[in-house]
Amino acid sequence: SEYQTLIIEQRGAVTLVTLNRPEALNALNAQVLADLLAAIRAFDADDSQGCAVITGSAKAFAAGADIKEMQAMDFAAMYGSDHFAGWDVFTRTRKPVIAAVAGYALGGGCELAMMCDFILAADTAKFGQPEIKLAVTPGMGGSQRLAHAVGKAKAMEMCLTGRMMDAEEAERAGLVARIVPAADLVEEAVKTAATIAGMAPLAVKANKEMVNAAFDMGLSQGVQFERRLFHGLFGTADQKEGMNAFVEKRPGNWQGR
Ligand code: HXC
Repeated sequence: SEYQTLIIEQRGAVTLVTLNRPEALNALNAQVLADLLAAIRAFDADDSQGCAVITGSAKAFAAGADIKEMQAMDFAAMYGSDHFAGWDVFTRTRKPVIAAVAGYALGGGCELAMMCDFILAADTAKFGQPEIKLAVTPGMGGSQRLAHAVGKAKAMEMCLTGRMMDAEEAERAGLVARIVPAADLVEEAVKTAATIAGMAPLAVKANKEMVNAAFDMGLSQGVQFERRLFHGLFGTADQKEGMNAFVEKRPGNWQGR
């Protein structure tokens, strides 16, 4: 395979990406980032693929950014290379990406899961931002995305103590969409992704874009953004097909335009 740290499978319209660095509990090093960016670019460019799932192993989704890779770096190396900025590219795909998390999602692993559009958690999942124990902080968006997901109290406590949240707490707090028995996690995530991939592609993009706008815009601006996108979909063939199909009591047949 062209990927050193990933296993990629296409299951119908779903791209399943499995992080595969078991010797380091899927710690995210430069190779993992390069592989993930290449995989997400290929996914984005492939019109046969509608939704992606990113998963890890039963023990670890990812145990963080690679500590051994960062250990010797100084400020000039970090700032000069804008270390971790490459991860922003990962969030730019306009198709949905689901994180299927079993075991540890710590530090950068938790941050990667939160970069995805939503998280499905196995009952074994554990989330945390333990960077403070290394005398640093989250660096891949964790302080911001965790605060948005679970609110200030839990985000602050987790970042300041480094404690982990189990799947139950993560679901109660709004960090994960749903909890699934560990043995069913990947199948359930692929099934959910297939449901999404079966929807009209432009409507999928528009729904993703507008929910994300809720985190970047004020309410009235966001509501207007939603309405403009909604209006725009009435210029598509699939809107006519979707509403005709409903009235005619049959499934829609999407053209992606
Ligand atoms: C590099 C890592 C790693 C990491 C684990 N390993 N996490 N290597 N970077 N983040 C390696 C270990 O060194 C070890 O390699 C092997 O994976 C197995 O890990 P163990 O610790 O032996 O496993 P276990 O005892 O089961 O403990 C699991 C664990 C622990 C609780 C998840 O590995 C752990 O605490 N990891 C670090 C978690 C963390 O602090 N993550 C945040 C990283 S910083 P060897 O060669 O010994 O077998 C980050 C944010 C970036 O992500 C922002 C700026 C820092």
